[in-house]
Amino acid sequence: MQIYLDYSATTPTRPEAIALMQKVLAEQWGNPSSLHAWGQQAAILLERARVQVARLLNAPSETIVFTSGGTESNNLAIMGVARNYTTPQHIIISSVEHSAIAEPVRLLEQWGWQVTRLNVDSLGRVNPIELQSALRPNTVLVSMIYGQSEVGTIQPIAQLCEITRAHGALFHTDAVQVAGRLAIDVQQLPIDLLSLSSHKLYGPQGAGALYVCPGVELVPLFGGGGQESKLRSGTQAIPAIAGFGIAAELAAQEMAIETPRLIHLREQLFDQLADVAGLVPTGDRWNRLPHHVSFSVHSAGGEIFSGKTLVRQMNLAGIGISAGSACNSGKLVPSPILVAMGYCDRLAKSGIRLTLGRDTTGADIDWTVMVLKQVLARLAPQPTLLKV
Ligand SMILES: Cc1ncc(COP(=O)(O)O)c(C=O)c1O
Repeated sequence: MQIYLDYSATTPTRPEAIALMQKVLAEQWGNPSSLHAWGQQAAILLERARVQVARLLNAPSETIVFTSGGTESNNLAIMGVARNYTTPQHIIISSVEHSAIAEPVRLLEQWGWQVTRLNVDSLGRVNPIELQSALRPNTVLVSMIYGQSEVGTIQPIAQLCEITRAHGALFHTDAVQVAGRLAIDVQQLPIDLLSLSSHKLYGPQGAGALYVCPGVELVPLFGGGGQESKLRSGTQAIPAIAGFGIAAELAAQEMAIETPRLIHLREQLFDQLADVAGLVPTGDRWNRLPHHVSFSVHSAGGEIFSGKTLVRQMNLAGIGISAGSACNSGKLVPSPILVAMGYCDRLAKSGIRLTLGRDTTGADIDWTVMVLKQVLARLAPQPTLLKV
């Protein structure tokens, strides 16, 4: 039996997207900037996808800029705002951002920008009052992750963006893990910039989008042909974008049924693991991504397991889970996210994440729980395996 429980790392491309992409690759491969019929067919696909992605946010279609994925969208938001200024200014992020925000911001810091990384509490939540006091006259951008990929915590985005707007700075949120799972309405929230990724919502890898509120000025990352309203030069990847579009449309249609189903499965998994000694939930149990379950793992004797040890053992049993966020799981370093939440270095190496999706069933949860308990019991008496 094979069970994939790593839907936060990536999701399987849904069949509707694959079918459309195959058709586009075979028949509608034109360059959307070309004026002839081949180009115009591609341009129609591009604009249809823009409408589909925009609807996921209740946004006008012209606010959607297609990119290669969440990483590029985040970089375009951060660097695109920063490059408006000839002298370094102040930027605020949380201390639990994805590396696709943390790294470009680190670069800005090297270039002389002032950076405030807001502390989070033990559940990974930013306190809006701390944002209020961190704002400075030269704060030009606040970027806060909407749903944290490693520990599942949802930030109080409405409060954070309202405080930022009242101050007059721009507000960006990385909504890569949230889009398609929870409703987002940019007409209701003063969000200036918002990042999306296709492969987190059953579209293909290699496509993403940045929502850019009308009036927000960005300097593009690349020079080139001026595609995407001059904000992202380069011929658009029409097959991937078309797949992203249909995946976004179907996610929006299915959310009313799929999100409560995921929450139910999430709770089933948390409940069934509640009595397992040594599994301590991480993140906010209630303000949480619907599909996200995460723990730090200790043995009953108090020793700490490496999350990677668990991932390997579960993989041998046919179950795909993850240790912290996928991008960090190649190296055994304490998770910066858990460290920011106050975990000691040893515990911050013991995070595991099980993320559920469209194909996850109640039976998968039962099987996973049984296997995880067995793996933990098998590992417990072998101290050499417990070394972090
Ligand atoms: C919160 C968050 N932001 C950004 C990214 C990067 O997205 P992409 O893989 O599309 O570049 C990820 C991917 O794991 C993510 O979880």
